[in-house]
Amino acid sequence: MYSFTNDYSEGAHPRILNALMESNLKQADGYGEDRYSRQAMEVLKKRIGRNDIDIHFLSGGTQTNLIAISAFLRPHEAAIAANTGHILGHETGAIEATGHKVISVEVSDGKLNPSHLQAVLKDHPDEHMVKPKLVYISDSTELGTIYSKSELEHLSKFCKENKLFLYMDGARLGSALSSRENDLDLSDLATYLDAFYIGGTKNGALLGEALVICRDSLKEDFRYSLKQKGALLAKGRLLGIQFLELFRDNLYFDLASHANKMASLLREAITQAGLGFLSDSSTNQIFPILPNSLIADLKAGYSFSFWKKIDSDHSAIRLVTSWATPEEAVSSFITKLNNQ
Ligand SMILES: Cc1ncc(COP(=O)(O)O)c(C=O)c1O
Repeated sequence: MYSFTNDYSEGAHPRILNALMESNLKQADGYGEDRYSRQAMEVLKKRIGRNDIDIHFLSGGTQTNLIAISAFLRPHEAAIAANTGHILGHETGAIEATGHKVISVEVSDGKLNPSHLQAVLKDHPDEHMVKPKLVYISDSTELGTIYSKSELEHLSKFCKENKLFLYMDGARLGSALSSRENDLDLSDLATYLDAFYIGGTKNGALLGEALVICRDSLKEDFRYSLKQKGALLAKGRLLGIQFLELFRDNLYFDLASHANKMASLLREAITQAGLGFLSDSSTNQIFPILPNSLIADLKAGYSFSFWKKIDSDHSAIRLVTSWATPEEAVSSFITKLNNQ
């Protein structure tokens, strides 16, 4: 049984484990003030091309979204997200539990645009309602789609004009930036966004996300928020060491490119078999629409998520590839698909 269920089914890339082993008995300061974390911050600043940003390492995606968003908002302020957004459907109401409403916007491709935001602002005209203040997007989105530079630029312009914060969940940022259709880079993100995170957990790290805060007013006291919410790890070095290794050279993007390549092999074979997709994904999550009988046959050898019923005979499934997906697993899946 091979799993295409997610991109965190394996441990960590061997280089990460080696880096942790090599540094294991070296003493370092606690709570992210160690030399590895400091160096990783410098390396990331260089990659992003900005010295005036703050970087914090956290352990997971929900934790990062929850701490960042609740730190950025005042009590009466709310976040806006696509109805597919991870913070709406998959984080147990973590944001709402901090007292902030998440306003859901119905979208078809996982992405928000200025007209969506305009409609939300129109629906929230005064102090009798929550005040929309932060726009939550993710790249790649929950449907594997990505933002283009011009889409992000337009969103950013609208947010600036309307005093909204623009925040990007980058759990799968490696895959998004490595997509053949992508025209964004890390420095664009710092230009257009107030904050974003670079996901490590789903791209070769044991665990860890790097939160980048670009807007000055959101930087102050962020370490207090981290500590108060239990995210300032005594052994913060473990996160710094991993990010240092991922960005020492091109490892981060090499791993994401591999995941994308495996997904694109699956996508091509599924297309050649005459089957369609729920979304136009060029990243490591794809959503083929298959006959239910074929899904049942594939289930005998592979695990993957059921995504959505399409009609009485067809459903969309989610196939996720990772930095560790062997090409043989992809080829044997394709053989099975073609032999049904
Ligand atoms: C886009 C996105 N954001 C956040 C998360 C949450 O990450 P974690 O499970 O590490 O809390 C996930 C996890 O699947 C995700 O896909």
